[in-house]
Amino acid sequence: MRHWQEELAASVAAWDARGWPRPDVVVVSGSGLAVDLGTPLDSAPIADLLPFPVHAVAGHPLRAELLRLPSGRVLLSSRGRLHAYQGYEPGQVVYIVRLAALLGARTLVLTNAAGGIDPSLAAGDLVLISDQINLSGMTPLWGEPPEAWGPRFPDMVDAYSADLRALARQHAEGLGLTLSEGVYVGLAGPAYETPAEVRMLRALGADLVGMSTVLEVIAARHLGMRCLGVSLVANPAAGVSPEPLVHADVLAAGARAAGRLQAILRGVLEDPRLG
Ligand code: HPA
Repeated sequence: MRHWQEELAASVAAWDARGWPRPDVVVVSGSGLAVDLGTPLDSAPIADLLPFPVHAVAGHPLRAELLRLPSGRVLLSSRGRLHAYQGYEPGQVVYIVRLAALLGARTLVLTNAAGGIDPSLAAGDLVLISDQINLSGMTPLWGEPPEAWGPRFPDMVDAYSADLRALARQHAEGLGLTLSEGVYVGLAGPAYETPAEVRMLRALGADLVGMSTVLEVIAARHLGMRCLGVSLVANPAAGVSPEPLVHADVLAAGARAAGRLQAILRGVLEDPRLG
């Protein structure tokens, strides 16, 4: 298993050579969920930051933006992400998170589109991720990651920071928006789940199901970052509702929720307590 450490060191040097300020926070946005966080100082195709070829899937425009908020905080915003189902290995899926961490970012904010397993969730709901179940069958920590990155057996309690969740809830409440909380299960995909799989996932304690996020959070926790995750319920998971699952519906639900998500994230990202 490759960890890309030489490439990451070169990417850090290339970042500094661009004259870009180093980020405090990295935001990784999911399927059609890239929100407008302000006017970027600069932007680049994500491919320019990565030492391997990337390709985009429909609705996943892959651009990186660098922003400086009025507070002075610097954000690296990855508009779209790489998924294992596209053929990327875990070290590639988490490359941008590791790059941000090695540049000094202490906080990871993730969004994703997910299927709602909990029947009380409706398409368009925003849910704070309280915890995760990694059923992708992979981890970015296979092999021997450099010792300097973090412990061999990282703790995954508080994988999604309780403090950051409280902060997000406060900002949502201030906007008159409801944010429930749920456990996210990450699968490899790309086929959606069968109804039997969704019943199994529910029995395992999952409220939301998707094909991203869990590897990024493992890599981020390993590197000591705090994580905040928000899922947009794009659809009820298979068998929870009689409708078939269609990728276009996932994108449409993202477009409808974009304004709410943007307002919450802007509040959180500007908050001095974000750290
Ligand atoms: N399952 C898995 N991933 C998803 C779903 C789903 O129902 N909806 C959006 N991403």
